[in-house]
Amino acid sequence: MRVKINKISQADIGKAITIKGWIRTVRDQGQFAFITINDGSCLAGLQVVADNDTAGYEEVLPNLSTGAAVSVDGLVVESPGKGQAFELKAQSIELIGACDSETYPLQKKRHTFEFLRTIAHLRPRTNTIGAVTRVRNALAFATHKFFNEEGFYYINTPIVTGSDCEGAGQMFQVTTFDFDNVPKKDREIDYSQDFFDKRAYLTVSGQLEGEAFACAMSDIYTFGPTFRAENSNTSRHLAEFWMIEPELAFADINDDMDCAEKYVKYIISYVLENCQDDLEFFNKFIDEGLLGRLKHLVESPFERVTYTQAVEILQKSGKTFEFPVVWGKDLQSEHERYLAEEHFKTPVFVVDYPKEIKSFYMRLNDDGKTVAAMDMLVAGVGELIGGSQREERLDILKQRIEGQGLCLDDYWWYLELRKYGSVPHAGFGLGFERLVQLATGMENIRDVIPFPRYPGHVEF
Ligand code: 4AD
Ligand code: MG
Repeated sequence: MRVKINKISQADIGKAITIKGWIRTVRDQGQFAFITINDGSCLAGLQVVADNDTAGYEEVLPNLSTGAAVSVDGLVVESPGKGQAFELKAQSIELIGACDSETYPLQKKRHTFEFLRTIAHLRPRTNTIGAVTRVRNALAFATHKFFNEEGFYYINTPIVTGSDCEGAGQMFQVTTFDFDNVPKKDREIDYSQDFFDKRAYLTVSGQLEGEAFACAMSDIYTFGPTFRAENSNTSRHLAEFWMIEPELAFADINDDMDCAEKYVKYIISYVLENCQDDLEFFNKFIDEGLLGRLKHLVESPFERVTYTQAVEILQKSGKTFEFPVVWGKDLQSEHERYLAEEHFKTPVFVVDYPKEIKSFYMRLNDDGKTVAAMDMLVAGVGELIGGSQREERLDILKQRIEGQGLCLDDYWWYLELRKYGSVPHAGFGLGFERLVQLATGMENIRDVIPFPRYPGHVEF
């Protein structure tokens, strides 16, 4: 029976087991060899000692190289060497898949993340991407655990959609048209002949559909892929990313922030408890302040300021920013990071943004100038969460849709939610990859998703 390496402990000393995995390193000492094997189950590899008494050793010896897949039967023994408490004394070894060491691109030396992106199919075999993958998994699991414990229902909103949730026009179009022969009527493209009889897109957010279910089930959340055709070549933007979007009925903007704070603290505590080795690895090799920052995040209350206060803080900061700070303009990443990293030194919610820079569905405040929108800003990442209380008043919502130059007919069903049993409700979206960045200290968002999609890159 094969045992995964993370399940082996000192209690197994004296037991016979089988392991399978990929060779990380081989140190051939002549009479015997040290082979380190990793199977992805944990950061650490298992040291295997093989010698002439190991069945199959001589046949496989020429093929024992980094990257090769092997199966080893052996005895767990106490390790005399430094660095590990136990090792595997191999009784037999079998080559499962050879690896041409001349051409294998993952050599023992450190590779840059840029290089690793060009071999995204092999990079999960590196320590860093393996650790990212395990932390990402734990964050996803903890997300479902949290919302289930809080009484939220997980719903799956559509990926192909007919409406623009954010109204920002950053959508990828979905069509089955033959581009050499696009049907036209009066010189315009005739979408009535397309697959869905109208223009369709990949969704930028499941929120609008999520609202429909919250206005029936009370509390729901989505966790799915979203797509944005924004041409942003930054370390925090992807064209395809995963978003968690809770929606709470009978809730206002403060309930929304309370939920967001509780959720983020819960999942970060979860990884602190369950991914210790991986987080220590990140703390040592990727981001020295990581563990301290995560512990602080879990233990202290998040700050809350209005957009107007945030603008004042930035203006009085004495810092020179690349983008000017003016009331009415959106905060840039440099401003967001200054607030979270330098000014508050803790996650901070900014609330009540000018209505002109936010989406149509956000609830208009009594001042007539701002909306009940909130962003959660965190160190290293900037905006981790964007959310709002939703406009539940039919007439105001109609004005806001039209005011933003959008077409009322496209939102007919969304408007009906305000006609039939409308209730105050609120929700937010958390960018899952940005969360993984927060939890790992990884600098570039392209390295925390298995196969990143960004302008010009859809390989793999
Ligand atoms: O602020 P955004 O655009 O909000 C919405 O989509 C709302 N419909 C959410 C809601 O209220 N249900 O996006 C939410 C979050 C951002 O805070 C950010 O973390 C992430 O999604 N995000 C991106 N992550 C990676 N790449 C991109 N291009 C992203 N755009 C937004
Ligand atoms: Mg946003």
